[in-house]
Amino acid sequence: MCGIVGYVGEQECAEILVDGLKRLEYRGYDSAGIAVFQNGKITVEKSKGKLADLEKKMENGKKPHGNCGIGHTRWATHGEPSDINSHPHGNKRVTIVHNGIIENYKQIKDFLISQGYGFESETDTETVAKMLDYYYDGNPIETISKMIDKVNGSYALGILFRDFPDTIFAIRKESPLIVGLGKNENFIASDMTPILKYTKDYYLLEQGEIAVITAKEVKIYNTEEELIQKEVLTADWDADAAEKGGYEHFMLKEINEQPTAIKTTIAPRIQDGMPYLEESGLTMEMLKNYRRIFVVACGTAMHAGLVGKYIIEKLARVEVTVDIASEFRYRDPLIEKEDLVILVSQSGETADTAAALALAKERGAATLAIVNVKGSRIAREADVVIYTHAGPEISVASTKAYSVQLSVMYLIAFELAYAKGVISKERCMELTKSLMEIPDKLNEALALKERCQFIASRLVNAESLLYIGRGLDYALSMEGSLKLKEISYIHSESYAAGELKHGTISLVTDEMPVIAVATQSNLLEKTISNVKEVKARGAKVVVICTNDVEIGKDVANHLIQLPKMEDMLMPLLAAIPMQYIAYYTAVLKGCDVDQPRNLAKSVTVE
Ligand code: AGP
Ligand code: GLU
Repeated sequence: MCGIVGYVGEQECAEILVDGLKRLEYRGYDSAGIAVFQNGKITVEKSKGKLADLEKKMENGKKPHGNCGIGHTRWATHGEPSDINSHPHGNKRVTIVHNGIIENYKQIKDFLISQGYGFESETDTETVAKMLDYYYDGNPIETISKMIDKVNGSYALGILFRDFPDTIFAIRKESPLIVGLGKNENFIASDMTPILKYTKDYYLLEQGEIAVITAKEVKIYNTEEELIQKEVLTADWDADAAEKGGYEHFMLKEINEQPTAIKTTIAPRIQDGMPYLEESGLTMEMLKNYRRIFVVACGTAMHAGLVGKYIIEKLARVEVTVDIASEFRYRDPLIEKEDLVILVSQSGETADTAAALALAKERGAATLAIVNVKGSRIAREADVVIYTHAGPEISVASTKAYSVQLSVMYLIAFELAYAKGVISKERCMELTKSLMEIPDKLNEALALKERCQFIASRLVNAESLLYIGRGLDYALSMEGSLKLKEISYIHSESYAAGELKHGTISLVTDEMPVIAVATQSNLLEKTISNVKEVKARGAKVVVICTNDVEIGKDVANHLIQLPKMEDMLMPLLAAIPMQYIAYYTAVLKGCDVDQPRNLAKSVTVE
């Protein structure tokens, strides 16, 4: 949560900071601010609301001038979004921006008050700023080290000390932070998106490392305060990836990027027509010896795990348990050394998923991360990582990350089933071939855009919606429902179609539209019976099925027909109308599609 950016170089920095924050705004957007060295003094401008509000505040010559500064876009954890609580925080001597949570901020605050310090904001962050001031003795590295010893929690910090003009100090623990390396200019940022247009070279700060950044050089100190040499990494995302590229919203762009994202993700993992996960370090030998599999994740990534459960159990006959990470970490799960725990995360930063990973490691289980962001926390901490290659996902609502996560789940299921001897090599090749055909079929599904737009116009006034399905269709309907509620603010629930009559059907009236997913041929008739049950109670029904079945008007008010593929692969195709329906409903309602209220892209707090 929250975006941090910093610039030091030869250019005016306020504009670079604001532009960078715009690209990070998806990480947090309840307030924003910048601090700039102006004539040797630290000048702060900050405002509640979106970046546009900050920009407005800086109109008419109020934009600070200087070549070194830090910026922040906030997702409040301590204190409401307000001007005062916005970052940067500090005083004339030390000013900081912070991503994360300081757990013992209350004790620190009490101590500092006893030392005569006053506080303006309700944030935990201000206690760190004042603590740095308290310890400051002319040596920033020593001061920061003393602060680290006293502070518990998660943080990435960008720090300016008045006595060190045109220098940014940076440190991180758990929250992400990178140092971008340009020519006569350097950067800090929460992720690559704000600096891609200047440079692709960067250092990944490790826990506890302190970076000292000027226009000409970057020095990194380890926890023992020794100067160290770090490897320069190069980002493989191109600058256009973080732009809207002519689309109205990032979400729409990302929906349309799915064929390419899947192709790029699976191509390197297929050799001679067979799944090949060895390059990630996951051998057939390892795969076949795991006793059970746990998939642990949050939100959409957890929904990808649910699809994984259905296909792995069905194909490979291995038991799979799917857990919400925030539940897993506290429920004392029965994991053992012979188990494999798969952590799924787009950002690789999600605090609950990272904690679940730590727990799995503590219990001695093998850990595999399916992650989109290179070098992120979960990717670095797991034993094995399979990167999805979706490119940056900027819209808060996850779309392309979901489909690439699914495509990796398929590869794992195919390889595991073959390794266990449950399916033949021919069948494994046949399934892999079908998976390779998905990107083309997805283009056919993407062409259903107008149909989905029309259906959205029928749903936009609903107060509540039901998503139903059986088996894999049920797993997918959970994702459809989450997508709709998070961006359109229409309440929706997903239900196993056969379970409706055990209670939930009492909610069904002509005011409760139902979206039924019926892509699984063996369950089609059963699901259609459930559709008839809700139709008989007045519901307007949208049915999503394959194009080889005939469904009359007496069953569905609206039909969306997808190209027919192996049943097992249908969730990849059926996700598209789900995403489109959520998207167009939100657009018609005038919602802020890419930045829905109260949410942030990566949830780095518990
Ligand atoms: C998806 O649309 C959500 N905004 C959210 O559920 C997300 O999938 C979840 O927070 C997990 O994030 P991660 O994949 O980065 O771990
Ligand atoms: N905990 C800090 C606050 O509430 C930082 C939140 C963030 O990461 O945006 O201000």
